[in-house]
Amino acid sequence: MSKVYGRLPALSRAGSHLPDSHASKPGVAMDLTSSFSDLDDLPDQPRIRVPPPGPETRALAQRLQGVESQNVTYLGQQFPVFWRRAHRAMVEDADGNVYLDLTGAFGVAVAGHTHPRITAAIREQAGVLPHGMGDIHPPVKKVELLEALAALLPWKEDSRITLANSGSEAVEVALKTALLATGQPEVVAFQGGYHGLTVGSLAATAREDFRDPFRPRIYPGGSFVPFGQAPMDEALQALERTLAERGGQVGAVIVEPIQGRAGVRVPAEGFLTRVAELTREAGALLIFDEIFTGFGRTGRCFALEAEGVVPDLICVGKALGGGLPLSACAGPRHVMDAWPRSGGEALHTSTFLGHPLACASALAFLEVLEEEGLADYARREGAVFQAELTRELSAIQGVREVRGRGFFLGVELEEAGAGVAVMAAALRRGVLVLPAGDRGEVVELSPPLVLSAEQQVTARQILVKAIQEVCRPAADPGVRP
Ligand SMILES: Cc1ncc(COP(=O)(O)O)c(C=O)c1O
Repeated sequence: MSKVYGRLPALSRAGSHLPDSHASKPGVAMDLTSSFSDLDDLPDQPRIRVPPPGPETRALAQRLQGVESQNVTYLGQQFPVFWRRAHRAMVEDADGNVYLDLTGAFGVAVAGHTHPRITAAIREQAGVLPHGMGDIHPPVKKVELLEALAALLPWKEDSRITLANSGSEAVEVALKTALLATGQPEVVAFQGGYHGLTVGSLAATAREDFRDPFRPRIYPGGSFVPFGQAPMDEALQALERTLAERGGQVGAVIVEPIQGRAGVRVPAEGFLTRVAELTREAGALLIFDEIFTGFGRTGRCFALEAEGVVPDLICVGKALGGGLPLSACAGPRHVMDAWPRSGGEALHTSTFLGHPLACASALAFLEVLEEEGLADYARREGAVFQAELTRELSAIQGVREVRGRGFFLGVELEEAGAGVAVMAAALRRGVLVLPAGDRGEVVELSPPLVLSAEQQVTARQILVKAIQEVCRPAADPGVRP
């Protein structure tokens, strides 16, 4: 993957254009054919050579076990597989098995893996300035990225943005901003909500298993109210009651416009609008966590557009960096100006803030997002995929529903743990999915927004077989793989 080393590609913004995002074109400033030849042989349909996890993967698992904290990677009999290469929607593991990726690698690879434009931007930046001094002598790329990002934000007023390195950190910046802006320290979040695992963001992450061991460290002023799936009245009443009970102490209400890890839970229509009204009546700031939903995933640039609710702060991450770690907390100027002007010591910053490599990658991603119409793709193709999958699963017992928006979909199954079982069953057939939901009962789909028509058919065929295998009553011989 390093064949262009030694020759800096003279890519201007215009020069970096490729007519078809994933095809190289003779005559552009850099010969991308050579840079991507390492990926040429990757098929665009699943190819299982050895039953996963194969021997190379098992050996890697052994090595990993010898060096990584046992908390981090689950090492089981059925998964994981170790990734070696990826392109568009295909991922190859260490054993040469190739999978169709319906996870987007936690929703990050919105433009597909190793998009040539993004890879070229990373290579170009890596050759001149991979790291800078974010808040002291800022890299040029930071300015360019902030301008590009600001242009996408929903406020009529100018936006102000703080960059960060992970989604959790962006959430921490938002919570700090709310405290500075309102002087009110408490936060209200929603049951099922996931906002990260750092000590600060755990104040808003609902899952008890993540919170319990660290309870003495977690900020105590956090309340959780039900998320407004239909019927939403009860959830809204709980929010209203909590805001009243906490009497002027709540500075932030934080919500995912569609809950991701809770199992792709879409709120009832009107819920977010009412949440915004109640939040403002309480003198608190409304934070939209668009870390999963942002940048085209739900069929629009941001999920907030579906209901037209404009929050006070937005957190983004995941897809933003085009595959590199980058996140941000953004708000209108009058809110973000609650932060004091830096007199040389920023109140919130970090060594890698505004990392030029990540900013260059993000800039290329934002260009691709727009030029390739990825949000439109998600809206159009995601709706068809959802409808077809719903139809194909309708005869299978144990399937509750297929839900979601754009290409952010969840298949809810009846049995706890069924999503995990489907993950393993789909992996064996060459499709990557993740489980979600408090009980592991949901199959979460957040693929790269570049699936071809043939890949969509394959994805559904394999999903149906995997779900059939998991949901089939034991006595039923059913469909074989
Ligand atoms: C909605 C949401 N918020 C925050 C986070 C935390 O982001 P990170 O894992 O980058 O810290 C996630 C991660 O999945 C997320 O889905």
